[in-house]
Amino acid sequence: MKKKAFITGINGQDGSYLAELLVEKDYEVYGIVRRNSIAEHQESRIDHLVGMGVETEYGDLLDVSSLERMIRTIQPDEIYNIAAQSHVRISMDIPQFTVQTNALGLLNVLEAYKNNCPKARFYQASSSEMFGRSIDEDGYQRETTPMHPTSPYGCTKVFGFNMVQHYRNAYKLFASNGILFNHESPRRGFEFVSRKITSGVARIKKGLQKKLKLGNINSKRDWGHAQDYVDAMWLMLQQNNPNDFVIGTGKQHSVENFAEKAFAHVGLNYKDYLVIDKNLIRPAEVDSLLADYTKAKKELKWEPKISFEDLVAGMVESDLEIATNLKY
Ligand code: GDD
Repeated sequence: MKKKAFITGINGQDGSYLAELLVEKDYEVYGIVRRNSIAEHQESRIDHLVGMGVETEYGDLLDVSSLERMIRTIQPDEIYNIAAQSHVRISMDIPQFTVQTNALGLLNVLEAYKNNCPKARFYQASSSEMFGRSIDEDGYQRETTPMHPTSPYGCTKVFGFNMVQHYRNAYKLFASNGILFNHESPRRGFEFVSRKITSGVARIKKGLQKKLKLGNINSKRDWGHAQDYVDAMWLMLQQNNPNDFVIGTGKQHSVENFAEKAFAHVGLNYKDYLVIDKNLIRPAEVDSLLADYTKAKKELKWEPKISFEDLVAGMVESDLEIATNLKY
């Protein structure tokens, strides 16, 4: 019998790559999509999977009855909770919505899981944002690094992380946390810095935009490719026991360095186009994220395959194609 997976956030960057991976592995894949009054492009990241064993229904992490019904009727073998209000800066502007969706929403999925299919395996999208400004002496963050979140988003992710551990311990559920560091791709939303840079570079190169406005260009991130990271999610649920794993590349670059590389890819000097906009600087910032993914390497046999250079180049190339076709 085919395995069944249920994915919240299936139409997002990670959800779409994960659905592809699971289709490749011959799973039946089910997902929920939040209804939006502008229906166009809602499922653009997963359009190509229609008819390939992927089914979606309208749903929402806050709509308990539909979550319960779907999980009860599908009886998934694996549940991936990836849906969230995932933008850190926006979580400072809409903290209540962020808490309801990310914290109470996760709890709703956990309850639906515990009450309807407790034999399934559960993945929670935890985040390096949970560490906030907390860094081990050697400059890295790892599973044991204390968590001091500096955003409503980070706080909701710490809540989710702890809840997953609690449900695992109290009810003996197979529930694991993936502590994922920043991960990007050509499917990244335009509001995140990587995609803002690569789409800006493409538009500037094609004469559609003059300048690129950014906030803090000194913060450093450990950037990987989302396609590599969904492999890690799946691997976590194939282990003998549930556990928590840091997933990253172990390499760090500043936002400025990302911009420099992206502009250089099209033969431009970033200094000629970059404008610092003070309004884009966050009230609280995470300065440095750098993953020690030794545990994942050892236990999951996972390693990132796509380099930072290839990630940036691939995103710029994809945005050049979009800019050429004027699909904005
Ligand atoms: N978004 C954005 N827009 N960020 C900017 C800008 C800008 O114009 N200018 C500078 N930055 C800086 C931010 O201040 C931050 O330090 C860095 O770029 C990265 O910002 P984002 O790409 O928005 O990502 P993030 O690190 O805040 O959060 C992402 O990674 C987390 C994992 O650590 C998100 O994907 C989260 O959902 C994820 O959990």
